Amino acid sequence: MKTVIDSAVTETLLYHEQTKHHFHRYARSLGFLDWANQPNPFRSYEGVTPVRLPLLQKDSASEHLALYERNRNTFQGFTRETIAAFLELSLGLSAWKSIPGSTWSLRMNPSSGNLHPTEAHLILPALPGVTASVFHYNSFLHALEPRAEVSETLWQQIKEHLHTDGFLVALTSIFWREAWKYGERAFRYCQHDVGHALAALSFSANLLGWKVTWLNALSDEEIARLLGFDQTRWPEFELEHSELLCFVHRSEEQQIPRDLPAEIVSGFSGLEFQGTPNQLSKDHVDWEIIPRVAEATAKPKSTEGAFAASGRPGLPDTTRPFYAPTAQSGIPAAQLIRQRRSAVAFDGVSSITKNQFCTMLDKTLPRDDCAPFDLGLTVSCVHLLLFVHRVTGLEPGLYFLLRAEKDLPVLQQKCHRHFLWRPVDGALPLYLLQTGDYQSTATSVSCQQSIAGDGAFSLGMIARFREELETAPWRYRHLFWETGMIGQVLYLEAEAQGVRATGIGCFFDDPVHELMGLADDAFQSLYHFTVGGPREDARLATRAAYHHLDAPAR
Ligand SMILES: Cc1cc2nc3c(=O)[nH]c(=O)nc-3n(C[C@H](O)[C@H](O)[C@H](O)COP(=O)(O)O)c2cc1C
Repeated sequence: MKTVIDSAVTETLLYHEQTKHHFHRYARSLGFLDWANQPNPFRSYEGVTPVRLPLLQKDSASEHLALYERNRNTFQGFTRETIAAFLELSLGLSAWKSIPGSTWSLRMNPSSGNLHPTEAHLILPALPGVTASVFHYNSFLHALEPRAEVSETLWQQIKEHLHTDGFLVALTSIFWREAWKYGERAFRYCQHDVGHALAALSFSANLLGWKVTWLNALSDEEIARLLGFDQTRWPEFELEHSELLCFVHRSEEQQIPRDLPAEIVSGFSGLEFQGTPNQLSKDHVDWEIIPRVAEATAKPKSTEGAFAASGRPGLPDTTRPFYAPTAQSGIPAAQLIRQRRSAVAFDGVSSITKNQFCTMLDKTLPRDDCAPFDLGLTVSCVHLLLFVHRVTGLEPGLYFLLRAEKDLPVLQQKCHRHFLWRPVDGALPLYLLQTGDYQSTATSVSCQQSIAGDGAFSLGMIARFREELETAPWRYRHLFWETGMIGQVLYLEAEAQGVRATGIGCFFDDPVHELMGLADDAFQSLYHFTVGGPREDARLATRAAYHHLDAPAR
């Protein structure tokens, strides 16, 4: 077993090294966009009759903090309507944009290159208007595509095991969607996107009084069996890879088993799956390192406790009160979800206050009983290296938000000796490393993208790396999920503070490490992000999310 894991770790580290962008060389990709083969952003399962879902006619009035705090939301029963609302406000369409000659859709969840490699599948019990089945969620139609009926007995087994009502939701990735544009680095982007989608699901569930719990003990292969992937005829290069399975249940239920027994998993092997996945592109490029890293990071069966979010030292104070809770945004939670957009440019002048800055950062800290970090990913491994440009009340410079206290001594030892590590605000684990103007540095390490220097602040997400992977290479994917979840929080928090954010997957890896003085791979930068005053593109026309359906448009 050890040698199998060792070679998977080697393969994973090799992928990571090989897909770094360098000042003088980008990770391997085609280098141009093959428009004739641009993947269809919508997967559908042909040959089945979709169950159309209703669109929300009115959003809940829950306020900003209801995104996070569970006790602000009352439980709504599991029905076709509430499950529709859950999906609409997490993975549904949010708008259509166009410029002369081009039209594209946007979704509640962001995606690198707007390519949307993440798909969702649900396993639902029998509900009025719904037969208990495994479904694929089709966001274009806002519909559930039934793939296999689940018998009453099988669902009862699931319910008895999980001790409570609810349903299952799985996320999968189609690597080709991202590889079409990004080549070998695509696997990383897919994992970021899973993290964003996961946080989006957790927020949307919370507004209904529901909680999303990751069933962390399952293997990827078991999830594939539950979804009937072993019985599916995939178009070449376009198969969906299982990422994770979650149980969605009442928020008050705390003790959810994090596994499904083998009898239940094998019960799904006996189901008859229908529907043929649509072909997304005519031709493909075989980036063979991607299936290799997918295999190396495939999660085997584990015990539930192996990745529990407690019981390991160095946990932050998860019960800390929110930073400046009385100064939260007046924008309702559902509105924040709907209006979230990526900024394409910043004005280079807008600033935010220190209070706003800390309010945003504070939401990225995990707390007990608060979405989204209570879904049980693991203890935090990801910190924020902050390039502060325009935050009134803070000197411009390099700052650090420590999301896992245990890493402080080792970071201090591995980073430049001249870093100050001066605490900034007693209420947050925020440190000043060095004052100075980091606008051009931030732009330069983010692949020369001016959005990283023109905003109020930008950041690199610095993950505890080698130690996490050494015995469990599949943790590589989990680290990226954590970064995506942090990103989703920052997207919504930027909207709440009247500014805008953008995820940055294109950055120069090692120059960020050099900037910090990191000489080995104990820590690695896995994702960048930027926040600032947006400059709107006046050429863009907007249409309602579901204007193409016969449902009343919002
Ligand atoms: C993982 C990830 C990486 C991204 N990287 C970049 C980037 O490097 N540069 C950029 O301008 N936008 C980047 N974006 C923003 C996407 O282009 C944007 O999410 C997508 O176009 C959809 O638009 P929306 O976020 O407004 O829905 C990234 C988004 C994600 C989720």
